[in-house]
Amino acid sequence: MKNIAVLVSGGGTNLQALINAQKSGEIINGRISCVISSNEKAYALERAKQNGIASRVIKRRDFQTQCEYDDALRDILKEEKADLVVLAGFMTIFGGSVINEFENRIINIHPSLIPSFCGKGFYGLHVHEAALQRGVKLTGATAHFVNEICDGGPIIIQKAVETQPDDTPETLQKRVMEQAEWKILPKAVSLFCQDKLKVENGKVIISE
Ligand code: GRF
Repeated sequence: MKNIAVLVSGGGTNLQALINAQKSGEIINGRISCVISSNEKAYALERAKQNGIASRVIKRRDFQTQCEYDDALRDILKEEKADLVVLAGFMTIFGGSVINEFENRIINIHPSLIPSFCGKGFYGLHVHEAALQRGVKLTGATAHFVNEICDGGPIIIQKAVETQPDDTPETLQKRVMEQAEWKILPKAVSLFCQDKLKVENGKVIISE
C-alpha cells in the first residue's frame, strides 16, 4: 500500500475528490496518509480533520531561503514516508531537493490542456481568463508529473471540457473542476499506486 501525501493551500476540492475516490475504492493500492498545507487557514485542513487524516502546516515565510524551505519540505515528506506527493492546489513554489528526492513521484493537477495556458502566472482564475480571452472552444485539465520546469513535466492524463459562449472565468473554472480535475486526478493517483505509470523520454506510458 503506497502512502500518498497531499499538499494543499486552499479550499481543497481536489483533496475531497481524492478522499471520495479512496472511500469508493477507486484508489487501488494507495491511501492518503497525510495532508500538508502551506496555510493554516486552508479549508482543506478541515476536510482532512473530518476524515481522520493527519495534517501539518509548513509556511514559506518561516524559512529564510528557498533552499532551507525545500530541505524542510523534503524532510517532512520523508518523515511521513510518502511514496507519492500530490499537489492539489498547492500555491508555494518549491524546487531542488524536493524534486530530486521525488523524481517522477510528484503529481500536479493543472486546469488547462497543457501546453496551453500554463507556466509562470497561469494559476487559479488567470488560466480560465486567458482561455476565454483567446476564445478557445476546448479547454480542460492535465494531471502531470512535476519536474523543474513549471507545468513542464511528463503528462499523465488530460480531459477536455467545452467552453460556452456565456462562460465567465468562474463558470468555466467550476465546469473544468467538476468535469475534468476531480475525475483525472484520482485516476492518475490510482494508476501510480498500481505501478502502471512509466516515464520514458519525457513521456508517460500507461500500462493496463
Ligand atoms: C485547482 O483549480 C487546481 O487545478 C489548481 O488549484 C486549484 C485548487 O483548488 N492547481 P482546490 O483547493 O482543490 O479546490
